[in-house]
Amino acid sequence: MLNTAVFVSGNGSNLQAIIDSNKLNVLLVVCNNKEAYAIERAKASNIEILILDYYNVSSLYNEIMVYEVMKEMKIELILLAGFLKKITPYLICKYPNRIINIHPSLLPKYKGLNAIERAIENNEDEIGVTVHYVNERIDDGEIIVQGVVNIKHLEQEDIYNTVHKLEHKLYLEAIDRILEEKNE
Ligand code: GRF
Repeated sequence: MLNTAVFVSGNGSNLQAIIDSNKLNVLLVVCNNKEAYAIERAKASNIEILILDYYNVSSLYNEIMVYEVMKEMKIELILLAGFLKKITPYLICKYPNRIINIHPSLLPKYKGLNAIERAIENNEDEIGVTVHYVNERIDDGEIIVQGVVNIKHLEQEDIYNTVHKLEHKLYLEAIDRILEEKNE
């Protein structure tokens, strides 16, 4: 199983889906927010947690620290699951094509924050979820899988629930593809 680090900032429902799937060896959870519920999830699964301080420490220095830890732990794959900080070229160069992100839109539409809210405001009939490789630009790398939800007749709360359910399914699908490619 691939040694994996999952980077989070909030609730961590995608982290939970990844842990529960048992497809990867999740050894480390990296978080920039010490209040994040994702930390409780990591604790419950006895996964090592690294909390980063982006207030006092630069992105680059944080990434240098994380990289040292990941090197020691022999981490092979990084999954971003609701991580709200930008990954810099430093880490991208250390993990070429081995950093994956999930974004709640049909990329290239609605890159960046509040993608679901912006799609709703624009009265979109469909919202998507995209899992993609990470490059130097936000929500921009090569797409691994994409899925669509028709939200025409859904209440706001149901939209979020439906999108999150699709996210959990698609992240696991993307992981399957990565594992298949690795074995080819
Ligand atoms: C998800 O909507 C993900 O697509 C976005 O941030 C959210 C994280 O949700 N990047 P959770 O913390 O995994 O529940």
